[in-house]
Amino acid sequence: MKILSRRASITLQHLKKHTSTRMASTVSDPNAKSAMLEDFHAHLLKSRRIVALLGAGLSASSGLPTFRGAGGLWRTHDATSLATPQAFAADPAFVWQFYSYRRHMALNAKPNAAHHALSQLAKTTTDFLALSQNVDGLSQRAHHPPSKLKLLHGNLFDLKCTDRKCGYKEPNNTTDPIVPALAIPQSGQDPTTTATEANAHANPLIRGLDISNPDHALPSIPTASLPHCPQCRKSLLRPGVVWFGESLPHDVLSDVDAFFSVDEPVDLMLVVGTSSAVYPAAGYTQIARAKGARIAVVNPDPGSGRALDEKKDWFFCGDAAEVLPEMLRPIVGDVGKIMDGMRVGDGNGDAARG
Ligand code: OAD
Repeated sequence: MKILSRRASITLQHLKKHTSTRMASTVSDPNAKSAMLEDFHAHLLKSRRIVALLGAGLSASSGLPTFRGAGGLWRTHDATSLATPQAFAADPAFVWQFYSYRRHMALNAKPNAAHHALSQLAKTTTDFLALSQNVDGLSQRAHHPPSKLKLLHGNLFDLKCTDRKCGYKEPNNTTDPIVPALAIPQSGQDPTTTATEANAHANPLIRGLDISNPDHALPSIPTASLPHCPQCRKSLLRPGVVWFGESLPHDVLSDVDAFFSVDEPVDLMLVVGTSSAVYPAAGYTQIARAKGARIAVVNPDPGSGRALDEKKDWFFCGDAAEVLPEMLRPIVGDVGKIMDGMRVGDGNGDAARG
């Protein structure tokens, strides 16, 4: 069964405002909250087939900005408007500066307790699949088993040639900056910003000026200084992410289709840190529901509990890094201890930079 073949390219859905039917945020009574968690735990423990849809909010407490809401603007541009082939064709230097900045921040960020809880769930649950819209590499760095992590929107650290006929692809290139011209400018390089001003707004994930702020001058970069394909030696390289209007990776779609096509119900779907505004990713929730799944949404935005079934679903209102480890505790145990063990075990197990 080809579940998504009709809608494989990425589109943005304008969501209607709904009021939630069942919202933890409105449950002020601590007993009611813990009853909801107990109810969830009881279902979790008997769930055999579990799927998770992950979005940018999963990495929010690692310090990475989401796409919508606060942090959704890059300089004066809506971040989603830069994730298009048209934006790249019109100004490849600007779009590379945006992606180079995101690569830089993601490399300096660390997976949080929610990434680790999901990774542990994946390791301990045979029939589990995480469908991630995130391109930041943090789930991988939390040692999420690759066969149970489907990257719907690609990966910031994969590169590919813009010329499809050339077809060059390079996985997991974490060089930062990828070419010298894309280095994050330092405060001395921006005549409009004093070092004191720059320090006052310093972001711990940025070793230099926060160029998402339009007050900082952006260096102008000639096309010749952007990353070029080492194979055809002619065309530009581009980030291996899926842009709006492009198709999701075929192998990823087939694997996800295969999971949903098994002639068995899906017991539980976790929807973590996503606005569910982008298709086909957001559509997987309905597919899971049609396969019998009860849905648990984790999000600090009370509006995200919209369209939940009052009798069957759960809405856990809060930061995924705090809420998810508690939700998954009966299966994954104490995530804090696991993270401590990794720090002791390999020194930099969750760090991209040594
Ligand atoms: P969005 O930015 O649309 O949504 C992020 C969601 O995370 C929002 O619902 C927030 O309320 C929630 N959130 C914020 N902080 C959180 C926290 N600490 N814990 C849990 N949730 C939190 O990001 P996505 O839904 O991932 O695609 O966006 C989907 C796609 O749109 C992205 O993959 C990207 C974007 O355009 C492409 O670039 C193709």
